[in-house]
Amino acid sequence: MDLDIKVEVEMEMEGISKVQRLCDACNHVFAQKELPTFLQIQSLKNLLDTFEAADVGIDEFSLPGSPSSSPEGMKELICGQGVPEITYIHIHECDSFSIGIFCFPAGAMFPLHDHPGMTVLSKLLYGSVYVKAYDWVKLENSSSRTIRLARNVVDGILRAPCEPSILFPKSGGNIHSFAALTPCAILDVLSPPYSEDDGRPSTYFSEFPIPALPGYAMLEERELPDDLVVIGAPYLGPPLSLPEL
Ligand SMILES: [Fe+2]
Repeated sequence: MDLDIKVEVEMEMEGISKVQRLCDACNHVFAQKELPTFLQIQSLKNLLDTFEAADVGIDEFSLPGSPSSSPEGMKELICGQGVPEITYIHIHECDSFSIGIFCFPAGAMFPLHDHPGMTVLSKLLYGSVYVKAYDWVKLENSSSRTIRLARNVVDGILRAPCEPSILFPKSGGNIHSFAALTPCAILDVLSPPYSEDDGRPSTYFSEFPIPALPGYAMLEERELPDDLVVIGAPYLGPPLSLPEL
């Protein structure tokens, strides 16, 4: 049996929700002292790949005003086609990782931002999104911390269903931006989470292409863009049971 199907069948048989399984797996992989292995990251990626919008309390099809309920008919779901602004649904955060979902209305843009020292796994749950991503170029003589050379590593459209993407502290497109081509949602696992106190703030950047050096750009730190609006919405998916601290 295919490994992913086997994992899904086991989860259903045990009555454990996917989101609970994801949280448990993240606890196992990210709370350990050692850095995660490639196989551990790959197994998280495989698990994330099984997710659909309904698994985290989102109805990707319903239009605003139409009835939207979970398969059990127990409660309302977030109306994926109806979010008016970029909407963050927080699922869980601890010292080691955070899990949440960004829902985008069509046309919404999330500007270039970084993930300092972080590993990020992202699953596009539905819709289409244009992604542009950079990695820093390490220069021996560079003294500026506010404007630096970066290499473009992703420049294309993601359309669901598609594999989760992974970015690392120094590779995979650690600095990225999104433009939603349709209503879409991205389930993110960040490890470790953003933390100003621990030197992991979210920094935003302006991009200056270099005509003589295709594929590279200078990225300059900027203030939080005035036109970036992110609202919060409650998580309505299966409840999580968390280990006692
Ligand atoms: Fe991001």
